[in-house]
Amino acid sequence: VTVERIALRVGETESVLWLGRGLLGDAAGRLVSPSGRFLLVSSRAARSSADRLRPAFGRALILDLEIEDSEEAKTLDSVREIADRAFHAGVRRDDAFVAVGGGVVTDLVGFAAAIVLRGVTWNAVPTTVAGMADAAIGGKTGVDHSLGKNLLGAFHPPRAVVIDPSAAATLPDRDYRSGLVEAFKGVWIRDAESSARAEELLPAILTRDEEALLELVAAAARIKVDIVCSDPKERGERRLLNFGHTLGHAFEAAGSYRELRHGEAVAWGIAAALTISRDRAGLSEAHAARVREVLALLGPFPEPVRSAEILRPLLSRDKKATARGLAGVLLEKIGRARVDEDVPEAEWLAAAATASFGVSARGSSR
Ligand SMILES: NC(=O)c1ccc[n+]([C@@H]2O[C@H](COP(=O)([O-])OP(=O)(O)OC[C@H]3O[C@@H](n4cnc5c(N)ncnc54)[C@H](O)[C@@H]3O)[C@@H](O)[C@H]2O)c1
Ligand SMILES: [Zn+2]
Repeated sequence: VTVERIALRVGETESVLWLGRGLLGDAAGRLVSPSGRFLLVSSRAARSSADRLRPAFGRALILDLEIEDSEEAKTLDSVREIADRAFHAGVRRDDAFVAVGGGVVTDLVGFAAAIVLRGVTWNAVPTTVAGMADAAIGGKTGVDHSLGKNLLGAFHPPRAVVIDPSAAATLPDRDYRSGLVEAFKGVWIRDAESSARAEELLPAILTRDEEALLELVAAAARIKVDIVCSDPKERGERRLLNFGHTLGHAFEAAGSYRELRHGEAVAWGIAAALTISRDRAGLSEAHAARVREVLALLGPFPEPVRSAEILRPLLSRDKKATARGLAGVLLEKIGRARVDEDVPEAEWLAAAATASFGVSARGSSR
C-alpha cells in the first residue's frame, strides 16, 4: 500500500495529512494525542469507518460517541452534547478528539475541540468525498445559527487528517457525486494537469474505483493544503476556493437546504460562473465546455430556483457583498482562477437564469 504523508503548518498548528487506501485499518501511530488518550466521535452513517478505526486506540479510548450528523444537527446544542459527554468521560487538556464522518461531524467535533478546556487536540477522519477534498482540511470549524450557516466557529486545525478512499464506499451515489463537484472545483482553480488527469479518470471514479478516487481527492487535498498554508484566515488566495459558491449558496438557501445537496448547488453556481468568466475573465469556450461536460457527467442535478426575486435577497446576504456588487471567483482558464471584486448583481442573476451544463447559446455563438 502506498501512503502519502503531507506535513503542513496551518496558523500555529503543525499538522499531517495521510492519504492512502486501507489507512482506516492502519491508523495507529498516525492519530495524535499528547496524553495517548482519545475521544472518538462519529455518526451512524460513518459506523463502518469507525469500526475499522477502533482497534487503533487499544485501551486508550475514554469516549466512544455516535452523534446525529444532519445539517440541522450542526448546532451549539450538539457541541454542548459532545462537551457534556467529554467532561463526564474525564477529558483532560492533553487528550484528543477523533472525528469520523462527513463535514458536519468534522465541523462539529473540531469546534467542540476548539472550546473544550479552551482547546484540545483533534484529528479528522473524513468519510465523504467532500470531507476528504475540502471540509476536513484547513482548520475552519463551526456550527450553524438560526440566522445562517457557519455563523459560529473557530479556527482550530486538526493535528492529523487520515484520508482513506474506502471510507466513501458506503456513501449513497448522490452524496458521492455531489462531493466530486468540490473535488473538481479544487483542481479547476489551481491545477491544469490534475484537471486533465481527473477528466481521464472520471469514468473509473464514477464506477467507484478507489484508486481513481484517491488520485482526484489527493490532488484536491494538496491544492487545499497549498492554499490554506499561504492564506490560513482567508484574506486572499483562500477565497479562490469559493469558486461556484456565490450563487451556489443562494441556490442552496433558495431550496431551503433540502432540494439541493451543497455540491449540487455549487455545480449550478460553477455553471453560472462560467458565463461570467467568459465575459469578464477571457475564459475560452473550449475550457468552459470541458468543465460543463464534467458537471454533466456528475449530474443530473435537480433544477435550482432561478427566480431573481428569490435569489436577489439571498445574494445580498453574501458576506462578500458591497454596494457595487459581489466579489466573484472567475475562471481564466482551467487551472487558473481569480477574484473580481465587484461583479454587478444583475450579472449574477442573469447567469443564474441561464446556467446549464450543455453548450450555451451564448457560448456557441462565439
Ligand atoms: N470546515 C470547512 O472548511 C468546510 C468546507 C466545506 C464544507 N464544510 C461543511 O461540511 C458540511 C458538508 O459536509 P459533507 O459534504 O461531507 O456532507 P455531510 O457531512 O452532510 O454528509 C453527507 C451525507 O452523507 C452521510 N455520510 C457521511 N459519511 C458517510 C459514509 N461513509 N457512508 C454513508 N453515508 C455517509 C451523512 O450522514 C450525510 O447524510 C457542511 O456543513 C459544510 O458547511 C466545511
Ligand atoms: Zn463548498
